[in-house]
Amino acid sequence: MDPRRPHLTVVADADALAQAAAERVASRLNEASDAAAVCLTGGSTPARLYALMANERYRGALPWSRIHWFWGDDRFVPYDDPRSNFGAARRILLDHVPVPPDNIHPIPASSASMDEAARRYEAELQRFYGADRIDPRRPLFDVVLMGVGTDGHTASLFPGHAELAQTQRWVVGVPQAGLEPFVPRVTLTFPTLASTREMLFLVSGESKRQVMTRLLSGLDLPAARAYADGNLVWLVDRDAAPEQRDVA
Ligand code: 6PG
Repeated sequence: MDPRRPHLTVVADADALAQAAAERVASRLNEASDAAAVCLTGGSTPARLYALMANERYRGALPWSRIHWFWGDDRFVPYDDPRSNFGAARRILLDHVPVPPDNIHPIPASSASMDEAARRYEAELQRFYGADRIDPRRPLFDVVLMGVGTDGHTASLFPGHAELAQTQRWVVGVPQAGLEPFVPRVTLTFPTLASTREMLFLVSGESKRQVMTRLLSGLDLPAARAYADGNLVWLVDRDAAPEQRDVA
């Protein structure tokens, strides 16, 4: 399958998207025999998924004590800043489920600079992985959640930015975000995001229909450059899907 022309799984609406994503995440995490690792995305789309995973149904369905939580990117702001992806996931999900605190690995916003935060996070990922080079046969993550901005960015990898071509560093600082919030960012690079059993894009709402149409037309947008050593799945609700898409 041409990664530049993603195959979309279209679901009815935002609730169905959260439900389908929760099922996929739970199934992947329950497959893991020992420590499992999820890489969360930021933005507003995943909030429904995080809330769903915090409710009774999933509380008993996931091996919480052996799941580790990471972020694909974050805004370089304090954790209690409303723009913090870590802060949002903690508020909506992690404060409500039995996750050992040591299993939560936020991008260190307390660092002196975004570049220091990137270096520290890269070291933390390598410590968790147990090596400083990724082996495609041994993925770092079990699930990587991804979103798409209206400009086609994903994580904090923005159109035309140098970070798109970064293949040596696991994590880099992004001094100028290409879309609001215009604060410095810290982002995993494509090869690090790709080291996963499943990469799961979540796209919802009318505001994403145009960028999805551009993606499907083969435009070289950052989200089209994302790839996965394992499965690459696009879950899109009907409002975000380009015309004439049957609902799964
Ligand atoms: C971020 C995200 C980013 C997000 C897209 C979509 O830090 O903003 O990681 O890549 O997934 O911008 O955001 P929405 O879900 O808010 O549209």
